[in-house]
Amino acid sequence: MSVSIKKPDQIEKMRIAGKLAADVLVMIEPFVKPGVSTGDLDRICHDFMVNDQKVIPAPLNYHGFPKSICTSVNEVVCHGIPADKRTLKEGDIINIDITVIKDGFHGDTSKTFHVGKPIQHAARLVDVTLECLYKAINIVKPGATLGDIGHIIQQHAEKNYYSVVREYCGHGIGEVFHEEPQVVHYGKKGTGMILQEGMTFTIEPMLNAGKRHVKLDKKDGWTVTTKDKRLSAQWEHTLLVTNNGVDVLTARPDEPF
Ligand code: MF3
Ligand code: CO
Ligand code: CO
Repeated sequence: MSVSIKKPDQIEKMRIAGKLAADVLVMIEPFVKPGVSTGDLDRICHDFMVNDQKVIPAPLNYHGFPKSICTSVNEVVCHGIPADKRTLKEGDIINIDITVIKDGFHGDTSKTFHVGKPIQHAARLVDVTLECLYKAINIVKPGATLGDIGHIIQQHAEKNYYSVVREYCGHGIGEVFHEEPQVVHYGKKGTGMILQEGMTFTIEPMLNAGKRHVKLDKKDGWTVTTKDKRLSAQWEHTLLVTNNGVDVLTARPDEPF
């Protein structure tokens, strides 16, 4: 259907927004330590984005979301709301999801951090989730399909005895935060939309240590947790399909792109 193909001037703006979103994750890393609250992390990111980067934090007021970033700790799958009373402790894992708007264009990226020294079983989940994202990124090129992306993520997750969340997915992105297509993280090779040069979208797999089923908090309307309360991890990048492959618009300097 109506998937937007970005023009060169739009792609240039997506590159800038992507780099700025990546920079926020680099900036916040040293603050992710035992004793910090997710409310603190939100304030630090908000002030950096607004005052230094001069970007708009896209989550703030997005469909009523109350904060500038998402902070999803342990069994929280996604869309965790930062709070001053939620203090991180040694051994927690936390996904920080950053979306900025610069010059009208969005950059969306997230990373799961260990708080203090990584715990082995958590590190395995976090690492396999990142491998799923990287394997998917590596097959992106014109002619590949969305089903190819879902398939490679599901294969690698399930081979490692993890489950893939179905209810939330990657998405087209540009002047609109969430646009077509939906990029699901499971599926069959060769099915679904064919990728074309100039498409921009995210891949953002959520893997659970236990069962794939999730629960939405009825009270706050946002926080998604695993039903079985076991750990969940997520990583996200914003991508551009190029003439012969992919550019990772939100790549950090320490990544192999
Ligand atoms: N950044 C999330 C994504 O990857 C969306 C967050 S929407 C919010 O698509 F409202 F929760 F911020
Ligand atoms: Co996203
Ligand atoms: Co995001």
